[in-house]
Amino acid sequence: MRLIRMQVNGRAVEVRIEPQELLLDLLRDRLGLTGAKRSCDVQVCGACTVLVDGLPVSACTYLAYEANGRTITTIEGLDGPDRLHPLQEAFLDHGAVQCGFCTPGMILTAYAFLAEHPVPEPDEVRQGLQGTLCRCTGYRRIIEAVVDAGRRLAGMGVTAPASPPSTPVALAGRGESPS
Ligand code: FES
Ligand code: FES
Repeated sequence: MRLIRMQVNGRAVEVRIEPQELLLDLLRDRLGLTGAKRSCDVQVCGACTVLVDGLPVSACTYLAYEANGRTITTIEGLDGPDRLHPLQEAFLDHGAVQCGFCTPGMILTAYAFLAEHPVPEPDEVRQGLQGTLCRCTGYRRIIEAVVDAGRRLAGMGVTAPASPPSTPVALAGRGESPS
């Protein structure tokens, strides 16, 4: 077991991990952050996408120890607990969510994309979201939502919201009591 420290959605987290533990398992099974989904498990579909230091990664193939000292953002931390991020609002307004399984990864991928392309054209969004698969929507509404979210954020003078600060927490390793 190895102790790692990281920021997860603005909270300082200490946790003991197994060397082979995946970030997706750590987030879902031990930190209770189930927004990131497991689907293909081989870094193809994007359903497990989270942000590591602001960049999208496939948590299904990202070892938890690689997150040591890094900042992790999941869909649960995109904005405050009682409000939706403008990207999430745009997805709802444009009907870009159907079953919702791809949506957390799609939104986090779009979030990182908009940080680099604040007011994108639809074709740019299409390129930017490549590698994040949706079985339901046909993508048109997703692309419309991301274009609209870029305009909304630009109108607010925002390219990326800060992670909300909160209280440090410590988590014990598997089979241990919380300390
Ligand atoms: S579950 Fe990770 S990319 Fe598909
Ligand atoms: S909304 Fe169902 S997979 Fe995308």
